[in-house]
Amino acid sequence: MDLYEYQAKDLFAQHGVPVGPPQRVVEDPADARAAAAEWGSRVVVKAQVKTGGRGKAGGVKLAVDPEDAEVKAGAILGLDIKGHVVRRVLVTPASEIAEEYYVSFLLDRTRRTFLAMASVEGGMDIEEVAATNPAALAKVPVDALAGVDLAKAREIVAAATFPAEVAEEVAAVLVKLWNTFVAEDATLVEVNPLVRDPRGNILALDGKVTLDGNADFRHPGHGDLVDKAAENELEQRAKDKGLNYVKLDGQVGVIGNGAGLVMSTLDVVAYAGERHQGVKPANFLDIGGGASAQVMTDGLEIILGDPDVRSVFVNVFGGITACDAVANGIVAALEILGAEAAKPLVVRLDGNNVEEGRRILAEADHPLVTVVDTMDNAADKAAELAAAGV
Ligand SMILES: Nc1ncnc2c1ncn2[C@@H]1O[C@H](COP(=O)(O)OP(=O)(O)OP(=O)(O)O)[C@@H](O)[C@H]1O
Ligand SMILES: [Mg+2]
Repeated sequence: MDLYEYQAKDLFAQHGVPVGPPQRVVEDPADARAAAAEWGSRVVVKAQVKTGGRGKAGGVKLAVDPEDAEVKAGAILGLDIKGHVVRRVLVTPASEIAEEYYVSFLLDRTRRTFLAMASVEGGMDIEEVAATNPAALAKVPVDALAGVDLAKAREIVAAATFPAEVAEEVAAVLVKLWNTFVAEDATLVEVNPLVRDPRGNILALDGKVTLDGNADFRHPGHGDLVDKAAENELEQRAKDKGLNYVKLDGQVGVIGNGAGLVMSTLDVVAYAGERHQGVKPANFLDIGGGASAQVMTDGLEIILGDPDVRSVFVNVFGGITACDAVANGIVAALEILGAEAAKPLVVRLDGNNVEEGRRILAEADHPLVTVVDTMDNAADKAAELAAAGV
């Protein structure tokens, strides 16, 4: 899960990373004005969206007085930044900046280690620096067991050639950032810019954090960081039911068991759609190992609840959960759903106990269900039915 800047900086503060003056998150330009009036200083108004390059997109603006804060907040709220519509802005007293640096810790999957990155050429052009002058971005592997103590932090600081007058302070901040990274089970913590102010203080003025969802069970508090309003409603319902569901923008609902099978099903449906008015998969849904009636019902309920869906392709390869159990699950699910199940279903079963599974479906002879033997033919049928319903 990616965090918003304000959440990232709250976490930093909890771990002792200096984040500068207080911040307030508002949805209404008048509240930005009130905050600026209260502080009586120039403020920065910043779009809270989970994407980079906000500054360049006009999502970060300096306001000289409260009235200006209201105007700037009004201009930023509602902006579309790379497909993310700004619903809230962060308001904070403007910091004086002498220099902008870049620091981050991340999980480097390719090298199977953690990585520290740092540069004295931080700021909004860091991507360009990384592309055109890679030597200016130090990359230092971090051993998971050894972690980052002051000595390791000094090594990172030296590799990035931080000026001597800030080296110790930046090293101390790096240790705290690493502690944040470990304590919160993050896969990324990034500060751009980390600034030096004219008095020599080091401050994190921006923050990007990605938390590892696999560690959620260790962090009950992380649940509070989820932005429910920004999540797709169907995805939210699916999550509540423990389903692995992602909404896509096509018309053929897809249910399968195993992420690999579901992904190839998406491909096959997309190919078939080319022959049928360009229909596409409407979602990814992996019901995993057990295809019980309840799981099948939950899955079908989510998919049939998507108004874009015109047909559903159930593609199951029976393994430990054999095809007869899956077939019974489908029959029972359709019974439970009753009139709610009003869209055609194409079912392809294969694998363990397939004959019995097909027999069960044939015997149930549900008017909405078409059983097709192969994955390609089933995808074609599902696409054809979706196209007919468009
Ligand atoms: N609190 C602040 N006080 C003064 N200036 C600020 C403050 N926050 C940000 N800025 C200025 O605005 C610039 C952009 O801010 P920020 O890095 O938060 O946005 P960004 O667009 O997310 O950048 P990127 O995604 O490239 O890291 C900063 O580089 C800094 O110059
Ligand atoms: Mg930034």
